[in-house]
Amino acid sequence: MMPRKTEKSLVVGLDVGTSKVVAIVGEIQADGSVEVIGLGSHPCRGLKRGVIVDMASTEQAIQRAVEEAELMAGCEIHSVFAGISGNHIGSLNSDGTVAIKDKEVSEGDVDRVLDAARAVPVAADQKILHVLPQEYVIDNQGGIRQPIGMSGVRLEAHVHVVTAALSATQNISKCVSRCGLVIDELIMQPLAASFSALTQDEKDLGVCLVDIGAGTTDIAVFTDGAIRHTACIPIAGDQVTNDIAVALRTPTQHAEDIKIKYACALEQLARNDETIQVPSVGDRTSRRLARQTLAQVVEARYRELFSLVLAELRRSGLENMVAAGLVMTGGASRIEGAEELAEEVFHMPVRLATPHGVSGLADVVSNAIYATGVGLLLYGSRADSNRSLSASGGGDDFVGRLKSWFRGEF
Ligand SMILES: Nc1ncnc2c1ncn2[C@@H]1O[C@H](COP(=O)(O)OP(=O)(O)OP(=O)(O)O)[C@@H](O)[C@H]1O
Ligand SMILES: [Mg+2]
Repeated sequence: MMPRKTEKSLVVGLDVGTSKVVAIVGEIQADGSVEVIGLGSHPCRGLKRGVIVDMASTEQAIQRAVEEAELMAGCEIHSVFAGISGNHIGSLNSDGTVAIKDKEVSEGDVDRVLDAARAVPVAADQKILHVLPQEYVIDNQGGIRQPIGMSGVRLEAHVHVVTAALSATQNISKCVSRCGLVIDELIMQPLAASFSALTQDEKDLGVCLVDIGAGTTDIAVFTDGAIRHTACIPIAGDQVTNDIAVALRTPTQHAEDIKIKYACALEQLARNDETIQVPSVGDRTSRRLARQTLAQVVEARYRELFSLVLAELRRSGLENMVAAGLVMTGGASRIEGAEELAEEVFHMPVRLATPHGVSGLADVVSNAIYATGVGLLLYGSRADSNRSLSASGGGDDFVGRLKSWFRGEF
């Protein structure tokens, strides 16, 4: 197949999710905006709770999704910005301090201060995925976002360090490279989703992003425009489906259908005269059941999930700093009543987010299930300006990429 577009202007996001793999192809326009020109999606059975448990079927799903996206975009895909999630993701805030060499902060000084800040003890089976600058301090003057060129003698950096299990990063890298693709960068999923689901105002004001997928609920908290806390809770849509299957004694696939068609996250939204048809296991005949019974089961799980998210937010110490409230995205956030229930549990404003910030097939990708995929695309399109110090980036152009990153915004 002949590449229709020049390699340079293309960027691809690959979201390897627990329910599906999505590849989204974007073309970077002259003004820096991104036009979506292809999308491929394939169901994936190779992950449990956000981590790969079956390499072969994950690989196959990636292959299919990428082929579909290539066909639609009329191009060949060689490299992807891939997302990673799972319980193994850890994060902490760290600081570093250096003396400013030449009275004025240079790129070299910023390199060194971030190096100092990333020097945190990391277990042998973990690796650093991101070092995300929050703010710089020069001679006790804090809140600086762009230190280069400023005068002073002492430079301090506050950063958010994200780590991941080495084995998990290797497994996803293997699956991707077996499909003949190169990973431009591995990006923690909630960081990616923040690019497509949040507005700058929300990040400045303080916001908690919650991406409820099939296998994991990913959390990212922003205040003053920078990322402060990240976490991953291994409970999401799959658990809801499983609860329904157990409670209604119906096969998982039927439970999933019933959930999408009839379930709601607030019992009071189901009228007491509504009934649903539930297929039974084996060849027993199907039964009718009150929709309220279904709602009870579903509400209990969503309530538990939201209280876990709230506990995480409290633990971060940022509960009172998220003035813009909660932004929910991901497939499982689309259930009827999710917003109302979340408002009740969190006592803060709640918004459902669909991905924004791209043109082209914007209607197609404007679905909460594509928040991570579109976010990866946006992250990739600005990779030169928001590239984080990835531990794997030891290549030739690593320094060059770092330099261009420092010039950009974060
Ligand atoms: N309308 C809906 N109502 C309720 N649940 C829904 C709806 N649409 C999708 N879901 C659920 O959302 C989940 C899939 O969401 P999503 O595609 O965001 O997950 P994923 O990215 O594959 O998984 P993860 O991010 O956890 O690895 C499934 O559990 C599905 O049942
Ligand atoms: Mg997801």
